[in-house]
Order: sequence, then C-alpha cells, then structure tokens
Amino acid sequence: MKKTVFVLLGLIVLTACKTKEKESHHHDNEHHLTHSHKSYKSDVDAHKLIYPSKAPDRIIVSLTEDAKHSFAVNWRTSQQIETAFVEVAEETHGPDFLLDEKKKQFTAKTELITVENTRDKEPSVNAAYHSAIINNLKPGTDYVYRVGDGSKNRDTWSEWFQISTPSTNENESFSFIYFGDAQNDVKSMWSRVIRKSYKMMPEVDFMLHAGDLINHSESDREWGEWFYAGSFIHATVPSIMTPGNHEYDKSVHRTKLSALWRPQFTLPENGPLDELKETCYALDYQNMKVISIDAQSFNNSKHSREAQTKWLDSVLVNNTKKWVTITMHYPIFSTAKGRDNQALRENLKPLIDKYNVDLVLQGHDHTYARGYASNEGLGRTIVQDAGTVYAVSVSGPKMYESQNQDWMVKRGEYVQLFQIITVENDRIEYNSYTTKGEVYDSFSLMKNKNGKKTLTNNKSEVQMRLKKDFVKK
Ligand SMILES: [Fe+2]
Repeated sequence: MKKTVFVLLGLIVLTACKTKEKESHHHDNEHHLTHSHKSYKSDVDAHKLIYPSKAPDRIIVSLTEDAKHSFAVNWRTSQQIETAFVEVAEETHGPDFLLDEKKKQFTAKTELITVENTRDKEPSVNAAYHSAIINNLKPGTDYVYRVGDGSKNRDTWSEWFQISTPSTNENESFSFIYFGDAQNDVKSMWSRVIRKSYKMMPEVDFMLHAGDLINHSESDREWGEWFYAGSFIHATVPSIMTPGNHEYDKSVHRTKLSALWRPQFTLPENGPLDELKETCYALDYQNMKVISIDAQSFNNSKHSREAQTKWLDSVLVNNTKKWVTITMHYPIFSTAKGRDNQALRENLKPLIDKYNVDLVLQGHDHTYARGYASNEGLGRTIVQDAGTVYAVSVSGPKMYESQNQDWMVKRGEYVQLFQIITVENDRIEYNSYTTKGEVYDSFSLMKNKNGKKTLTNNKSEVQMRLKKDFVKK
C-alpha cells in the first residue's frame, strides 16, 4: 500500500469539483498527458488495456485480516486525478442508499507510479494507484461502494458495486474459488475460466489465486488483461493472491517483486519481514485460517526461508480456527519429476504435518493433481484418518505434462480448471471444474470433534485427460 511516491490527499470535495471544471476543457487531450509515445512498437489495440483515464479502472477488492469488519479496495486512474475517495453504504432495495445520511466517505491513499517494461518494449505508463481499507463494517451485511475523485461529475466515479461481509456465525457455510496459474493469454483464454466460475457460484465469498497471475511481472499490458478478464468480478468478490515466480522480475533473477503488486493489491502485512508484506500473510475467514507463503522469496534466500518457516510455526501454534488452508505457488509435491521443490518440502512439510493442515493449494506445474502424502491403496473411495490434502491446479491455457506418483488420487493435463471449495462447520466440499463446468475431481473432507478427518473421493464427470491424447509430439 505505501510505496514509492506516497501522496495522502484529504482535499475537500469542493476543491475537487473546481479541479474537475478546470480540467474538463482539455478532456480530448487527456491521453497525451498521461503517457509518452516513445518506443511503443506494439499494436495500438492494447491501448485500453494499458492507459489509465480519469475514470477508475482495475478496481479490485481484497480480504483484510479482519474481513468481518472491513474490506480493502484498490483502483487506478490517470495522474490527472489528484483526489481519491470511496463511498460506502448499506445496500438498500432501491436508490435510497444514495441519501447523504446513509453514505460514508473514506479518503484513499494515492501513489503515483511510472510503469516501465523494457522487456516487452511497452511504453512507460504514468498512473495513479489508489487504495483504501474500509473499516467499521457490520458482519454478515450487504454493502454497496463506489470509488472516484470526490467530484460531482459521475464520469470520474465507478459504478456502485455490491459486496458482503462474512457472517458472525463462524460455522456458517462459505465458499471460495481457487485458481492455479492464469499466466498466459489471460484476456483471450483465462477470461472464460473466471467468468464461468462466477457463473457457477455467483454467491462465492472470495477468490484465491495461487500465483503466476501473469507472465511478465512488469508488463502493464498483461496486468491490464488480468483485470479485463475478471472485470466487475474483481470489484465484487474479494480476492487474495500469493505471488509466483512470474510476479518476480526475471531481469533481476526473480529477486524483485513486480513493481505493480503492492500498488494494485492491498493484502495483509502481518508476515515475518518487511520485504514479505502483502506476499506472506495470514488471515481468518469465519472458521478457516488462510495462509500465504511467498514461495519465490522462500527459494531466493536462506533469510526468507528461515523467517517464513519460523513465522508459519508461530501462526499455526496459535491458531484457534477449525480449518487451515495454506496457499503457495511452488508445490510441496510436484506433478512432474524434475520439478521438485525440495527446500520448500523439507522446511514446511514437518509443520504441515505437525499441525495437521487441511488444504495446501498450489500452482506452477501447469497440470492438475490432488492427493495426500501417504496415499497407500491408491484409488480408495474413503480414507480414514486423512492427513493434509495437496492440490496443484492450472486455470490458464499453458499446458505441461505430468507423471503418475504415489501421492496422487487424480491428475490431469491439458485441462483448464477452477476449484469451488465450500467450507462448513465439520466438512469441506471440494470440486474441481473444467472451464466447461463439469466435475474433474471431487472430494469431501469431514472433521470430527477430535480433529480426526475422513476423506471421501467423489465421482468425476470427466475422465483423466493427458496432453499426449490431444497434442502429438
Ligand atoms: Fe510458476
């Protein structure tokens, strides 16, 4: 949230109105003021994906540490916008939430960024990134909000979006959608995955992205595609995301997080190191704790490895939530030989075992697999005393191959998937769907009062897919 150039503006609405009037005369020239034309050799069709305007775009809500009482929202405009506000009201049946006494206004933080992506010869883009945490909300309540510059001109405001806070009843059922890597051809080929997932579960409570949302960490165009693909879904369903290797800058050997990660997302800052703020964190959602491990940073340095391992131990030892889900980009058990993440497994698996973590949701391998560490008797329908369930998934179109391994119950290749996971008091229902909306993999995980788990493998509608059946070498 608080990064490079940090401008906190609390200008009153009146001032903003005057600014607006002054600016309206040169509206036609707007985009000439917001970017340079140097070295842009790419096609102009990407114009709308890259350049900001005075109207908010790339609007996204995310979960905070205290999701019952707050949510975070980020958006982008051109740097001509100098004031940033969020208006929030409890949702009403009609337009009555617009009445002054029902609306609350929050001032957002603004940082001015120049995005440079020489790797893809993109033009440099000047943009203002705005963010706010909306707090003092009531649990289990439907709200509407919009973001804008505070002026009376509705063109510089977003539409009103709906958002709901989680229930006070910890054990009330909720659902989230887990996506593996989107990464490539995000506008062209990933858009239908997120849209299908939303169509199948419009009441979803949040979405979880297990890293590699895009391919080139500094590509404004690719980030633009990611926001385009999700469109209003990003502004309506809170997200959380863990960074993958592709969110780290390749030109510096994946040691630097994308310059856009922190400006465009607001994620918890409760990880172990400053450099891990908004990448390694924990939050609670009703009766589940969700933990993000920054797997790239973990691999980069011993310092990060030790810090994250120690921190994970402290989070788990103090945990009071019934369910625990960990997400990280690199898998503890890979789907393919030769893609092993030994350091990650050797450091974290003892903790995952010790605290009997329920789900580990991962990406990176561009294939699908789901199983558990001691999967003796492969293919059993019911597993008594089930341990941790590990899943690797992929939502984008980049497709690799895998090899069958002991830990796997189900695997797949050449299939774009999303997982709808429903959490109840004593059970988790996990369904992995193809982008066509059919069940590729499914299980139920029951937990009794003593924490003992029984896993039931359910029937799928789609048989195992292997890349060799579709693409001849
Ligand atoms: Fe990756």
